[in-house]
Amino acid sequence: MAEPVLIAPSILSADFARLGEEVRAIDAAGADYIHIDVMDGHFVPNLTIGPGVVKALRPHSDRPFDVHLMIAPVDPFIDAFAEAGADIVTVHAEAGPHLHRTLQKIRGLGRKAGVSLNPGTPAAAVEPVLDMVDLILVMSVNPGFGGQSFIASQLEKLRTLRRMIEGQDRPIDLQVDGGINAETAPLAIAAGASVLVAGTAVFEGGPERYAANIRRLRGH
Ligand code: DX5
Ligand code: ZN
Repeated sequence: MAEPVLIAPSILSADFARLGEEVRAIDAAGADYIHIDVMDGHFVPNLTIGPGVVKALRPHSDRPFDVHLMIAPVDPFIDAFAEAGADIVTVHAEAGPHLHRTLQKIRGLGRKAGVSLNPGTPAAAVEPVLDMVDLILVMSVNPGFGGQSFIASQLEKLRTLRRMIEGQDRPIDLQVDGGINAETAPLAIAAGASVLVAGTAVFEGGPERYAANIRRLRGH
C-alpha cells in the first residue's frame, strides 16, 4: 500500500503579523512539515523572509522546517538557513551553475537536501544528482506568489520523477508546490507526489479551519 501523503503548509499564506502563532496552529492542525518560502526579488519577483525569521519561528514547532530557497546566488546563504533551524534545504536547479556543489554543502552541514524544478525545467535536470537528494520539489506554478493556478502539464513530470525515484535504493520525497487544493491534490497524488505543499488551501478560513483544510488535502 502507498504511504500516506504528507502535508507541508506554506506559511506564505499565513498572517505575517502573527507568524509564531500561525506556525503553532498548523502544527496542532496536523502539518507534517512547515514549508517556508524564501524569495530574493531577483531569482523570483517577490521578497519574503530571511534566516532571522526562520530562527525566530524555530521554537514554535518541532516539525521539520522545509525551507524552499528561491534565491540566487544561493550558496552564500546555506549556512545561515541551516543554523537558523532548517531541517530540509531546497534549492532551485536553475539558481546557478553549481548545483552539485550546493548539494554537497547542504549535506556537509547535516541537513536534508532538496532540488526544486520550475515548470519549464525538465525532470532530467535532477538525474545527475539523484544520489545526493532527499527531496525533489516540482513547482506546479511559476514561483513567486501564492494563490496561482495549478499547471497541469507538471503531472507528467511528477510521473517521470516517480519512476526515477523508484529506481533508487533510499527514500526521496516527491513534493509538489503551487495551486494545490481539494481538486488538484488527488491528481498530484495519483501522479506520484508524496508531499503536498499548500498555502491558500490550508490557511483559508482562519485557524479554526486549518485541521479540516489539511484533512481535505489528504483526501479524507
Ligand atoms: C510559490 C511558493 C509556494 C506558494 C504556494 O513560489 O513556493 O509555496 O506559497 O501557494 P499556493 O498553495 O497558494 O499556490
Ligand atoms: Zn514553496
